Amino acid sequence: MTILLTGGAGFIGSNFVQYLLRHHPSYRVVNLDKLTYAGNLENLDSAERNPQYSFEHGDICDREFVGSLFRKYTPEAVINFAAESHVDRSIIGASEFVRTNIVGTNVLLEWSREFALKRFIQVSTDEVYGSLGPDGAFTETSPLHPNSPYAASKASADMLALAYHHTHGLPVLVTRCSNNYGPYQFPEKLIPLMILNTMGDRTLPVYGDGGNVRDWLHVEDHCSAIDAVLHNGKNGEVYNIGGNAEQRNIDVVKMILHHLGKPESLISFVKDRPGHDRRYAIDAGKIRKELAWAPRHDFETGIVETLRWYQEHEPWWRNILNGEYQHYYRKMYEER
Ligand code: NAD
Ligand code: DAU
Repeated sequence: MTILLTGGAGFIGSNFVQYLLRHHPSYRVVNLDKLTYAGNLENLDSAERNPQYSFEHGDICDREFVGSLFRKYTPEAVINFAAESHVDRSIIGASEFVRTNIVGTNVLLEWSREFALKRFIQVSTDEVYGSLGPDGAFTETSPLHPNSPYAASKASADMLALAYHHTHGLPVLVTRCSNNYGPYQFPEKLIPLMILNTMGDRTLPVYGDGGNVRDWLHVEDHCSAIDAVLHNGKNGEVYNIGGNAEQRNIDVVKMILHHLGKPESLISFVKDRPGHDRRYAIDAGKIRKELAWAPRHDFETGIVETLRWYQEHEPWWRNILNGEYQHYYRKMYEER
């Protein structure tokens, strides 16, 4: 099978490229990535030596270029990871989120339709469902109630993709996963940000009262879930993905401090994120039951492995910290 994967130089996409090449060595994997601030070819060192892997530098919004890739590779499946993915950046400005996450998805859908593709997986997020109170969990039939510009752009893309299934019979599947963590995550996100700040004895900026809850999943478990959807999912369906690992942000931060042997005095409660969703929790009963998927990592062991990974990959994160990230960090946190 030839798979056109987009956003494969980002956090989850690069983990998925490596996962595919390991588990399906006969597959051809084509990675289309624009290399935005979040895309990093250093995530793909080992893949680059694999003859089954090709990298294409480009934008999913570039209709002509995407079409040329369909003609060149005639993929059987598209897996769309490419996105602007950070909620805080979508609050600063949403244009790139609308462009890549909605317009770019539509370009991929149009070409997929023209080439009678066999599978189109839209990698989405639990954030399309909005925020929960203290009880309950999102199911695939929960109403969509996106609260941030990022979540609204992802919900739009989901609906477009499902409309292509309904109207044109395109074999679309949508996955909605909870918060991921693990190797190669860009340090704007909570867990790597807190790990790197702790390692550098810098303050740990916890938004609001730290009581917001996220449902964490190791990125390898997300990869195995997408693999299950790719091979056994039913066209036109949505699959929630999550690991029943709800944690308050403050508890995640304290766990990182504990395992790195640093004091809680590094914690600083800062101004809250505007419109901050209080709680996410995923009911992954459908994918567990119908596709026999189950996560393999428990949260605390996964966190310890992840912080070891950051300790062992200093050149990887130093390159990021020394670049545009400094400017972003100052803008986001200096006056918070
Ligand atoms: P990321 O920000 O780490 O990576 C995004 C990748 O997309 C980068 O390599 C970037 O260069 C590429 N990209 C951006 N715009 C592009 C464009 N116009 N054309 C081609 N490539 C482009 O994101 P991530 O955290 O790996 O998330 C991947 C996908 O999974 C996203 O669709 C996101 O919405 C979804 N998701 C993420 C999480 C999470 O916890 N990180 C959870 C659920 C779903
Ligand atoms: O739920 C899935 C989503 O998870 C994905 O769709 C998004 O792409 C991904 O970025 C993530 O969104 P969140 O907004 O939940 O992740 P983030 O790491 O930005 O924040 C996690 C929680 O930590 C959130 O409640 C905000 C809080 N936070 C975050 C940062 C960066 C802080 O308290 N301090 C921080 O400095």
